[in-house]
Amino acid sequence: MTDKGPDGHAEEPIWRRDFPITSAGEEAITRRDFTRFLVAGSGAFATGTVGVAIWSAVRSINEGEPRAIVALDSLAIGDDFLFAYPGERDSAILVRLAEDDLRAYSQQCTHLGCVVFWEADEGDEGELVCPCHEGHFDIRSGDPTAGPPDRPLGRIEVEVRGDGMVWALGRTK
Ligand code: FES
Repeated sequence: MTDKGPDGHAEEPIWRRDFPITSAGEEAITRRDFTRFLVAGSGAFATGTVGVAIWSAVRSINEGEPRAIVALDSLAIGDDFLFAYPGERDSAILVRLAEDDLRAYSQQCTHLGCVVFWEADEGDEGELVCPCHEGHFDIRSGDPTAGPPDRPLGRIEVEVRGDGMVWALGRTK
C-alpha cells in the first residue's frame, strides 16, 4: 500500500527515489544500446569484408618476373616443355596446343603436391595428369576434371615476343 503525502497525493515509495529509472526509460536505453551494437557490428562486418576482398586480391596477384622460357620454334604442336618458374625450385610445364595456343601451369598438383605431367591424346586434346591419386586437369583452364583435386593448377601467363621466345609473365595462385 502506498502512503499519502501531506498534500493528499500518493507518495512515491522510497525505492523509486533510489532507482529513478522507469521501465520505459530502461527500454529506451536498451534500444539505444542495441542500435549502437548494430551499427558497430555492421561496421566491423563491412571492415572485415573489405579486408577479405583485399587479401584475396593480393593473393591472386601474379608472382614472378617476366622471363624467357624457350624458343617457340623448338616446341612442336602437341609437345610440352618443362621449366622452373617463378623460382628455380618451382617446376612448371608449358604445352603448345596449336600454332599460337600455349598453356603453362605449375606442375604442383593441388591435391597433395605431386608433380603433374602432360598426357597427349591422339584423338582428343590431352590433359594434365597427376599419377599419385589419378588427378586430372583440363589443359585449357587448369581446372580439375577427375580425381581428388578440387582446385585449379597455378596458371602461368605466357606470350610470344618479337625475339621468337615464349615468355612467362607471372603466375597466379
Ligand atoms: Fe595429385 Fe593426389 S597429389 S591427385
